[in-house]
Amino acid sequence: MTSKNEAWWKEAIVYQLYPRSFKDSNGDGIGDLKGVTEKISYLQNLGINAIWMNPICESPNDDNGYDISNYKGIMKEMGTMQDFDEMMLALRKANINLVMDLVLNHSSDEHEWFKQAKSSRTNKYRNYYHWWPAEKGTPPKRFSLFDENSNAWQFDITTNSYYLHYFGKKQPDLNWENPELRKEFYDIMKFWLNKGVAGFRLDAYPFMAKDTSWPVMPTSFTNGDFIKYYGSNSNLHQYLNEMNKEVLKDFPNCYLVGEGGVVDFNEIINFVHKDRNELSSSYHSDHVDSWGRNKDDNSKYDGSNKDLISLKNIFNKWDTLMKNDGWNTAYFTNHDHSRAVSRFGNDETYRVESAKMLMTCLLTQRATPYIYNGDEIGMTNIRFNSINDYNDLATKNWYNQLLAVDKTKAEAYIQSQKELSRDNSRTPMQWNTQLNAGFTNGKPWLKINNNYTSINTEGDIKNNHSIFNFTRELIQLRNSIKDVLVYGDFQMIEENNKDVFAYIRSTNSKKMLVLLNFKKELVDCSFIKKFKLNKVIVNNYNNTFDSKKLQPYQSLIIELAY
Ligand code: NOJ
Ligand code: CA
Repeated sequence: MTSKNEAWWKEAIVYQLYPRSFKDSNGDGIGDLKGVTEKISYLQNLGINAIWMNPICESPNDDNGYDISNYKGIMKEMGTMQDFDEMMLALRKANINLVMDLVLNHSSDEHEWFKQAKSSRTNKYRNYYHWWPAEKGTPPKRFSLFDENSNAWQFDITTNSYYLHYFGKKQPDLNWENPELRKEFYDIMKFWLNKGVAGFRLDAYPFMAKDTSWPVMPTSFTNGDFIKYYGSNSNLHQYLNEMNKEVLKDFPNCYLVGEGGVVDFNEIINFVHKDRNELSSSYHSDHVDSWGRNKDDNSKYDGSNKDLISLKNIFNKWDTLMKNDGWNTAYFTNHDHSRAVSRFGNDETYRVESAKMLMTCLLTQRATPYIYNGDEIGMTNIRFNSINDYNDLATKNWYNQLLAVDKTKAEAYIQSQKELSRDNSRTPMQWNTQLNAGFTNGKPWLKINNNYTSINTEGDIKNNHSIFNFTRELIQLRNSIKDVLVYGDFQMIEENNKDVFAYIRSTNSKKMLVLLNFKKELVDCSFIKKFKLNKVIVNNYNNTFDSKKLQPYQSLIIELAY
């Protein structure tokens, strides 16, 4: 139940579901919609009430669905529109809202729009994309984000022009300056909303609005500068406003959440401000972009930068930004980042404890929490040894480009990818101890982590002390005291403590102290003596509680006397 006058998505507990890897129903090795429907009771049992599903529209799958060739059709690997409708019906019965991924910065080069657009300079769809005629010389320098140092302009001989692709070559950028294109998208959104979808996650939205005077890029960027050359043009506000006007007038409860990691921090509130009618909320990636990465070279993972004070400041900074006029989101893993327990916790000796600690953190934020599939059982990074094991085009492209110029750099890159690669979080769900972890009867599209014999949902559900059951209880707790855990004030304490993340969630009549040990050692927590403790409500160490020391990765929620 949603509190009076509050948007449903503020109280939602979202499960991010990567459908390719969730459950295969027909033995082709790829997860599909029927597989999702089969597992709805599992999700109900966990207690989540919304799903963000990664792309399921027709796609040649160059970037696993982030390259759409028909926005109103279902990808053949995922099943049919009938499977979609059946899934929607089952989700509705289970009171689970579906948030779809809306890939609006680019389409696939196999989309009919692009096929038409590239056929002639005068084609009706030409202006759906960005072109640079070859007779004007070399196009303005822009890099593709998926190929190191590679050009974002791809030459196409048919019309002797270059087209723009900020991501892969098969992902041409759409031209949002064109009102016809914008109308197409509003229509696409209404199509899915009429089918019962509850909202959209706007993929890479800051890139939609480009400065097409193409200012010359500097040789290096200072913080927040990069996006000015790639997107986030002032038109972006106009487009989002228009989207609201055109789409949300008929669907006022539609949730629009933007993937906006690259927007300048000082600008972000202007996209999510409650009075501006643009986005409902947005994600940032400051924590996943820094934790464990080399301070001087962000693409390297060497574990050198696990500075808890910085991490706490990131949480605090985003909470403060959003608390009055916006609404925050929280996550530790998504399909673009490796597994939470392997990155932020400890996937060896303290896997269970640290996964529970991270869940405690996630589910006590003043934000909509996103649980990534598999994190509820503490799935870990797979850490591939060979480039041949990877599926992700970003990893493969960067590796090949580096290899062409410098083998040592290529090897260093692949070493970092063991911890950072997106494929770490994309390996199939581990359901049970049977063949292929119960994910498929066929050959899985991506290798399954060998640890499925000990890490799987079946085992976790049966075990009272599992991560799954701990998460389930935390969800119930969050739902039972929304005034405190969803809406209550968030006050960080012990700002300079480098071992413990500690904060108080409170209302005028209730106070909850949250203590999170991010270290694999016993750490001091004698600072809690200044509080009057009423009762320990959550403890990832069952009954072990010492008011002076926290166990490795211990997490506690303690009710305080008022
Ligand atoms: C962000 C998505 O999360 C990522 O998976 C995708 O590759 C890019 N956008 C391009 O669509
Ligand atoms: Ca399948």
